[in-house]
Amino acid sequence: MSADIHSRFKFNPADFIAERSKAVDASGIRRVFDMAATMKDPVNLSIGQPDFDVPDAIKRRAIEAIEHGRNRYTPTQGIADLVKPIRQQVERDTGWKDPGVMILSGTSGGIMLSMFACLNPGDEVIFLDPYFVMYHHLPKLVGAVPVSVDSYPDFRLDAAKIEAVITPRTRMLIICSPNNPTGMAYTEAELRATAAVAKRHGLLVLSDEIYDAFCYQPHVSIASMLPDQCILLKGYSKTYAMTGWRLGYAAGPRAIIEQMIKLQQYTFVCAPSPAQYAALELLHSGTVDMTAHIDEYRRRRDRLIEGIGDLYPVGDPRGAFYLFARAPGNWSGSELVQRAVNKNLLLIPGSVFSSRDTHFRISYAASREHIEKGIEILRALAQEAQMK
Ligand SMILES: Cc1ncc(COP(=O)(O)O)c(C=O)c1O
Repeated sequence: MSADIHSRFKFNPADFIAERSKAVDASGIRRVFDMAATMKDPVNLSIGQPDFDVPDAIKRRAIEAIEHGRNRYTPTQGIADLVKPIRQQVERDTGWKDPGVMILSGTSGGIMLSMFACLNPGDEVIFLDPYFVMYHHLPKLVGAVPVSVDSYPDFRLDAAKIEAVITPRTRMLIICSPNNPTGMAYTEAELRATAAVAKRHGLLVLSDEIYDAFCYQPHVSIASMLPDQCILLKGYSKTYAMTGWRLGYAAGPRAIIEQMIKLQQYTFVCAPSPAQYAALELLHSGTVDMTAHIDEYRRRRDRLIEGIGDLYPVGDPRGAFYLFARAPGNWSGSELVQRAVNKNLLLIPGSVFSSRDTHFRISYAASREHIEKGIEILRALAQEAQMK
């Protein structure tokens, strides 16, 4: 064969990247990883997971599960011993009657499956900006259209703003309370007004409550206000520091959850078996109490606000473990973050979570020592910004 024929059929992997893959942009997050890689022992206030470890009782259950051969596929919807009590818990919490429940490979799995199950090409999905990055990108994988609602400067949930962007193509509304990245936890009144909008327009609400345990006011869920019209997503990643174990659950109308189970069968197959058996520890034993950790996170939030709140407006964050602060002077969020990196402090620019580049995210899932150093550096930066 001539060299000519070979070259005509030269295989180029780049030619095989589908449009849906190209539509997802991970450059913002990658820039942060690149920055982190250049830093030695940074003061790291960028982390999106707890800095405590999995409680011992849960670890022991997982080890036992592995040693006793719980290493095989489980039913796709999850083990019955876990699904049943979760269903009862959801019924108690929401007042729903006999909802569908499935165990997920992480809450992320549930976000993906609900979009795959419920969205057609061209359907619109509404969520607040700033947003958890997946809400912006995953709709595109199914040809749906992300529609963000600007929630600056106070990041509150404003039902009227949501109603204003509803079109005949709107299908889904995502609510995340407590919120990543803003740390907001919405009030009952805000959620009721939003539920009324969802009812008026027949929208399916996806309620991502992965931070429900980290709520420094009583946690209110929109789920109880929307029987039959809501997919409730909860996770174990943040509450029990099990981010690498990949466990969460979805509850909602049976007809929808059944479709999600069908799609899980052909994608994730099931949530990790040892993690499911380990979660049984949380059901009746009373051996796991996260109160001390949650109280500590509340104190860290208070300390951060006390330390920088006079220089950096952060709204009124009452949940999760983040503050979303405005960059000082006329700096953009990215400029502030680059200058912080120069002082060995790692933060995330707000542009990763938003169409605006005016803010940055601070995580207080970090040691007291790092929080104190972070406060010092942020105060120095605010002074520099004023002097410009
Ligand atoms: C708002 C929100 N939803 C979902 C997830 C995904 O969590 P999981 O580990 O359960 O997939 C995260 C993780 O950062 C998150 O912040």
